[in-house]
Amino acid sequence: PVADRIADLLGRMTVEEKVGQMMQLDAREDLDDQVLRQHVGSILHTSPERLERAHELVSQTRLRIPLLVGEDCIHGHSFFEGATIFPTQLGMAASWDSDLLERVARATAVEVAATGVHWTFSPVLCIARDLRWGRVDETFGEDPFLIGELASAMVRGYQGDGLTDDTAILATAKHFAGYSETQGGRDASEADLSRRKLRSWFLPPFERVAKEGCRTFMLGYQSTDGVPITVNDWLLGDVLRGEWGYTGTLITDWDNVGRMVWEQKVQPDYAHAAAAAVKAGNDMVMTTPGFFRGALDAIEMGLLTEADLDPAVSRILLLKFEFGLFENPRRPDAARVAATVGSAEHAALNLEAARRSLVLLENDGILPLVPGTDRDADGRAMSDASPRRIAVLGPLADDAQTQLGDWAGSSGQADWIPDGHPREMITTVLDGLRDLVPAGWEVEHARGADILTLEDDPAGAFFPDGQPRPPIVVPCETDAGVLAEAVAIAERSDLAVIVVGDRIELVGEGRSTATLELVGSQNALIDAVAASGTPFVIVLLASKPLVLPRSAAQASALVWAASPGMAGGTAVAELVLGLIEPTGRLPISFARHAGQQPTYYNQIRGQHGNRYADLTQSPAHAFGDGLSYTSVEYTDLAVIGGGDLRLGDAVRAEVRLTNAGPRPAREVVQLYVRDQVTSVSWADKELKGFRVVDLAPGESRVVELEIAVAECSIVDAAGVRLVEAGAFDLLVGPSSRDEVLLSAPFSVAAAIAVEAAR
Ligand code: IFM
Repeated sequence: PVADRIADLLGRMTVEEKVGQMMQLDAREDLDDQVLRQHVGSILHTSPERLERAHELVSQTRLRIPLLVGEDCIHGHSFFEGATIFPTQLGMAASWDSDLLERVARATAVEVAATGVHWTFSPVLCIARDLRWGRVDETFGEDPFLIGELASAMVRGYQGDGLTDDTAILATAKHFAGYSETQGGRDASEADLSRRKLRSWFLPPFERVAKEGCRTFMLGYQSTDGVPITVNDWLLGDVLRGEWGYTGTLITDWDNVGRMVWEQKVQPDYAHAAAAAVKAGNDMVMTTPGFFRGALDAIEMGLLTEADLDPAVSRILLLKFEFGLFENPRRPDAARVAATVGSAEHAALNLEAARRSLVLLENDGILPLVPGTDRDADGRAMSDASPRRIAVLGPLADDAQTQLGDWAGSSGQADWIPDGHPREMITTVLDGLRDLVPAGWEVEHARGADILTLEDDPAGAFFPDGQPRPPIVVPCETDAGVLAEAVAIAERSDLAVIVVGDRIELVGEGRSTATLELVGSQNALIDAVAASGTPFVIVLLASKPLVLPRSAAQASALVWAASPGMAGGTAVAELVLGLIEPTGRLPISFARHAGQQPTYYNQIRGQHGNRYADLTQSPAHAFGDGLSYTSVEYTDLAVIGGGDLRLGDAVRAEVRLTNAGPRPAREVVQLYVRDQVTSVSWADKELKGFRVVDLAPGESRVVELEIAVAECSIVDAAGVRLVEAGAFDLLVGPSSRDEVLLSAPFSVAAAIAVEAAR
């Protein structure tokens, strides 16, 4: 049995080998030193060459303990040239489709496993509540229930049929917990969270995936109430290991242990930091080379015993045994790489994901540009009307790399994959429109605006730990001629499609933004096209919700395309032309102004002064919003159940949906719960269910929805989750906005404990 093999190996390991086993180091650094001297248990950020060298070095070690190889493959394989890059997590969340997310994660696992990587640091379960945060694109948006559903699906997809399946990879639920609750949106700032607030919103998605069997959890960077997450005994010990009984493996984020010394300054040296991290229950320490000496010193100083290392080392060895790495280290498999990485099958799935990630937010009827979905022999749209001339403008209309989003190799991290993803694998919006407009139509392009330039940070080129500091981003003006060329094209066209948004330098870890406005001269481009009188459509190719200029109100249509991945340009062109139906719904609210934070829909019921004097309360676009080319009516909502309910019971509802329009509908039916009176201040409504329903033109159907009664719970003043007795409303409709939701009451006769009182 595995337990015996672990005990046997532990008994033969030196203390140095145990400390090394707990370390994950950056394979771009000195691999010989990492494997031969530090006995490292895991590496990340590999390349085929680095991986081969690492395995060769392991074969020279005394015990030949295989390496676990990790990578940030969060919307496709980020570290492998030619791999499939899907839309970002936020983009795919707009599908509200667990099945799609599971298939994307499965395809990613198949590619990742073939390249000899065993572990992906995905999915991200952070709740995006401040749009200025740089990592909003990595999340599933703002709602804990939606996050839990979609994250569980990705975990199932990655881990497949279990670790013995050679296409399974380890999933990671990150970043545990509350990391996104920043100060001013600035990444990794202290999270000002009470335990009750954590239990109310931030922990439920993690509990859900822990129960789903997610094999690893990664910590964030944040401190909560003065305690860095790396040493937060309450979250790691009492809640995760204790209450949830989680037996998986815990990994820190990048140099969390070192940061407690050199950045947060809550530990005097690496010995104390290492001892505290081990005692708090961390199993693997990511990229803290100083952990090796620090942990050994801690043992010498009596801060730690060798036996303190054993639970962590055992958990890491368990993964290696369960994977069967001792017998088969799962090295890159050239035949499988050739058959799966960037395969046609995955490209088709990628196009499906890109189509489902698009959200049509405004449309005065200008879209779709052609009436039918038929294509000619070349795959182009068909139109009987006279040929039209389309201006495709904007700095992102033909920017293949930005479209891929963060964690996509060369797009953000040019040094990671020098060659990046081959250009021919990526269709930009310009490519898509050129390929798909009806024969005889003309497409003309000009960038018309620029976004930014980069300047060296005057504060110095390096962080205190010697890491290079990224250059600061400076919005740039555009040469008058560049703008004039675009306006001239717009003026001689029937329609302009303007593709604007953000650039990869404004997205990601450590790249939060103070504003949400379009950067550079993009607003000037929209202003000028609006003034030209040519009808225009805005495609917002933006990692997260951004704020558009006043002139954007004159746009005939607005499409949010997030970072739609390699197939994004095709999907956008198909949507604009009408070859596909717009089906995405916002997983996150859009603010009207950067100062309108937070904007999320499920805010606590406030008092009379809880509003701005100079701005309406409502977001620019609300959670759940999204238009289609048809019109679906909701009628006859009825609740079945209520009254004498117990834990384990369900509340069921029925609603009639009628597709009253001429085109097929794929409707995301959303179900919210409102607890009319709560013992503590609570959200006015919360999403607790949804269903994706297909309806043919003219079809009318009753749809059933069900929620577990536990979903009607709140967290009381003592921090205990329960369903309180009283009156509730069940709200069903196409968005979180009250004005489009049908409402039906139900009641709960007696309070129901969801968790044992602590
Ligand atoms: O997985 C990531 C994490 O999300 C942020 N810091 C770096 C890690 C490894 O690249």
